[in-house]
Amino acid sequence: MTALTLSTAAAPGLRADAIVVGVAKAAASKSGDLVVAPGAEAVDKAYDGGLAGVLKTLGASGGEGEVTKLPAPSGFKAPVVLAVGLGAQPDKDTSFGTETLRRAAGAAARALAGSKKAAFALPVTDAAAVGAIGEGALLGAYAFDAYKENGKNGKNGKAPLAEVALLGAKPRDKACKAAVERATAVSEELNRARDLVNTPPNDLNPESFAAVAQAAAKEHGIKIQVLDEKALEKGGYGGILGVGAGSASAPRLVKLSYTSSKAKKHLAFVGKGITYDSGGISLKPAGHNETMKCDMSGAAAVFAAVVAAARLGLEVNVTGWLALAENMPSGSATRPGDVLRMYSGKTVEVLNTDAEGRLVLADALAKASEDKPDAIVDVATLTGAMVLALGNRTFGVMANDDAFRTAVVEAAEEVGEPSWPMPLPDHLKKGMDSPTADIANMGERMGGGLVAGLFLKEFIGEGLTWAHVDIAGPAFNESGPFGYTPKGGTGSAVRTLVRLAELTAKGDLG
Ligand code: BES
Ligand code: MN
Ligand code: ZN
Repeated sequence: MTALTLSTAAAPGLRADAIVVGVAKAAASKSGDLVVAPGAEAVDKAYDGGLAGVLKTLGASGGEGEVTKLPAPSGFKAPVVLAVGLGAQPDKDTSFGTETLRRAAGAAARALAGSKKAAFALPVTDAAAVGAIGEGALLGAYAFDAYKENGKNGKNGKAPLAEVALLGAKPRDKACKAAVERATAVSEELNRARDLVNTPPNDLNPESFAAVAQAAAKEHGIKIQVLDEKALEKGGYGGILGVGAGSASAPRLVKLSYTSSKAKKHLAFVGKGITYDSGGISLKPAGHNETMKCDMSGAAAVFAAVVAAARLGLEVNVTGWLALAENMPSGSATRPGDVLRMYSGKTVEVLNTDAEGRLVLADALAKASEDKPDAIVDVATLTGAMVLALGNRTFGVMANDDAFRTAVVEAAEEVGEPSWPMPLPDHLKKGMDSPTADIANMGERMGGGLVAGLFLKEFIGEGLTWAHVDIAGPAFNESGPFGYTPKGGTGSAVRTLVRLAELTAKGDLG
């Protein structure tokens, strides 16, 4: 994992493989003029104040994420200067936004794969900027090549940038130090969630996922309880068992409990953990199942957030529930037409075995409700409909409480995760009426993301506050990398969950 430090060294004498500077489109210019962003004054000076001009000559536009490499000025220990685009220069008296910095640092770190050390001379106006740049660098440096020839970072892969030194911030400043610690904990756990998502489903199944959680819980002093298939049977978890019935890998329900002696509030996070979604007997057609190893992204996010909360020692109790199953067709699989008796006691007619996420979540949500947490948030790659509605980079947020839904959307905004509030219109519930059971696992096709949300709502304990986050779009990036987001597993929703835990700890939520 990439190391992150604060350094007081001056750019010229710094031993590194590259020095990263920011370049922006000049505010008052229509002729494509560039400005070097604050933080890189010493570098610019070594080019006799002409760095912006040199970059323009090289064809740089200052566009977000654009990377331009040039030889460092003579006398510099580092051989290369890497300029990363920051987009438009902010108005006077304002500074670059944290998400702009996070993305730029990510693009720079990715472009430096194969290098050992880089010094970042970007605008560190305050601790928030330190945290954003640090996070962006650690997330952008991420690479998954465990399955390439010669093992991790073998001859086919460039090793991620090993060390990032942030210049310009005060290493002894308490807030800056805390920002580095936070960025490190959150990014490392988020990258671990990405690893889990990227791990192929022949290696990651409910049992091996639970084992990973067990090891992490031990390392970080988190209490853990793993219900195996026998325990699930005994407990009456018909939803989780029904979804896992067709698989050679039995399902699991994992409970992670992080507690703080100073906690006043309790949050429950619930994650959909389908380690592979073939659709089951309602088999997905070819073209729709190649990326379905990503269907455990919600559980990975919940897992990462609980571990990050523990590492940061947040003063809030956080319980994480991982509802793990593999959805496969076989002679023992649940059939369309079967009725499942859920943990809550409700019965569900399974009309489509591909609507499996809501079944495992329903059991986990009903169980999580028993602790009467102050709020419950579930995270799931739940519906293709949400991808159609919001695209590949934005997750949808639904809730049984308008203020809480707004709080989740605002927390996401704060950490740089695009999200959008979605309604839960009552009239769509009727579509899930079943002649045989209490409810069917499918309703109207139109508004499918909201129908799934309404189904989940039925399993929330009386009077509890709940939000549902559908990350089917942003969980897995099938196109090229951008900003700090790699191809493949993205770690979507991890930072939003951590932020919710922080806000709850501070008493600013719920
Ligand atoms: N895991 C899928 C949803 C999904 C789609 C995630 C695309 C990521 C990308 C989910 O289990 C599913 O299959 N949902 C169905 C529900 C339908 C059968 C009611 C869907 O959205 O088509
Ligand atoms: Mn499915
Ligand atoms: Zn699924």
